[in-house]
Amino acid sequence: MKYHIVTYGCQMNVHESEKIAGILRAKGYEEESAIGDADIIVFNTCCIRENAENHAFGNIGALKKLKRQKRGLLIAVGGCMAQEEGKAALLREKFSFVDIVFGTHNLSELGELIERKRAGGRGAVISLLPERLRTEEGIEPIRTSYPNAWVNINYGCNNFCTYCIVPYVRGRERSRRAEDVLSEVGSLVREGYREITLLGQNVNSYNSDGAGGMDFPALLERAASFPGKYRLRFMTSHPKDFSAELCRVMKRNEKICNLLHLPAQSGSDRILSLMNRRYTREKYLENLQMLREEIPGCAVTTDLIVGFPTETEEDFEQTLSLVREADFATAFTFVYSPRTGTRAAEMEGRIPDEVSRERIMRLIALVNENARRASARFLGGETEILCEDFDQKKGLYLGRNEEGRMGYFASDRNRIGEFLRLKVDRISGVSLFGEIAD
Ligand code: 5AD
Ligand code: SF4
Repeated sequence: MKYHIVTYGCQMNVHESEKIAGILRAKGYEEESAIGDADIIVFNTCCIRENAENHAFGNIGALKKLKRQKRGLLIAVGGCMAQEEGKAALLREKFSFVDIVFGTHNLSELGELIERKRAGGRGAVISLLPERLRTEEGIEPIRTSYPNAWVNINYGCNNFCTYCIVPYVRGRERSRRAEDVLSEVGSLVREGYREITLLGQNVNSYNSDGAGGMDFPALLERAASFPGKYRLRFMTSHPKDFSAELCRVMKRNEKICNLLHLPAQSGSDRILSLMNRRYTREKYLENLQMLREEIPGCAVTTDLIVGFPTETEEDFEQTLSLVREADFATAFTFVYSPRTGTRAAEMEGRIPDEVSRERIMRLIALVNENARRASARFLGGETEILCEDFDQKKGLYLGRNEEGRMGYFASDRNRIGEFLRLKVDRISGVSLFGEIAD
């Protein structure tokens, strides 16, 4: 029996798919890369923006024929979109051939749901819970991204930014126990993983429920204290909880990468307030200044939304000027997408699509210009990269440096998992190219 998993969305989902794989493997399934040859197909969905949903809907719909042709094929849909209010019913209505629907809180139940479906005959098995089952600790993920490994530290979000559906589909913040997190990090380092990324919707509010046992800077510092050479990353941080202590921990632990992903969302105080972000542009820039005083050259990346309800040309220009001032290494840019059930979806002042599209084009042009400039700083120098893959098309190995820049080089032997010094002699786009120093 073989499984195929289709993943949409963020790193959280990528890692949860590794756990889904772990559950399927424990049930005796093997991975199958061709979707048409699998006996069970699992969609791990995302609902952060409308196009993520449309994508999933389209691809699930496309399986109707396969399902008819292949007796015994199971199709399961899980993750954020499945958890979303009313979506399970819609899935059932549109795609009666879907066998199993599960949500964000009960991935660990998947094995039982498969059994129930097998025993139960016709009709879909649907299980959606309002709160997370505490049974994920036992799942051994099948990790697919060596030398990188993801480790969850907290789940859910209490912030209710007005545009965002995450608090509705991921529930309230819950922290894993620090000892569980640290024992996982320690094992991964001993197993030879070279880059560990601590994951949470909002890592800075780790332990907000008291279940962790220590705050985020303390956890991060301990996670950086295992013997051996490895890198530590974390995402995502919320600017309102960014602290001087976190800067100090980043500074004094060389295993923690000099890279901070700090979503700004907008450069306009008026829009930030409508978004319920609970910081101002000035406060955001102060955070960056504090960080760069502690760690000169620390790369900062961000997320930005254009076309939030009532956003004027002036508000948008504030976002452009924030990009200029903040000197982001790169930024992920999004057109605002109304999500049913969120406060912003009820707001007046919808921005026409063509205006949002025009704004995002201007924003992307500026972001790219900055990103290329950030890359150019590495030209002519050496930078340490962790080799993580081989690019078939380019015929080159690739890795990333601490600041997250992709670096490419030729090698006649497999270098994946090695730390190497790249002599950067060419930049293309934002990527670095060069030779490996001996
Ligand atoms: N529309 C557009 N972008 C959104 N994001 C979250 N919700 C929305 C939405 N409704 C963006 C934010 C967040 C990133 C993960 O996705 O920028 O930081
Ligand atoms: Fe969404 Fe805001 Fe929570 Fe991030 S902090 S997941 S943007 S509600």
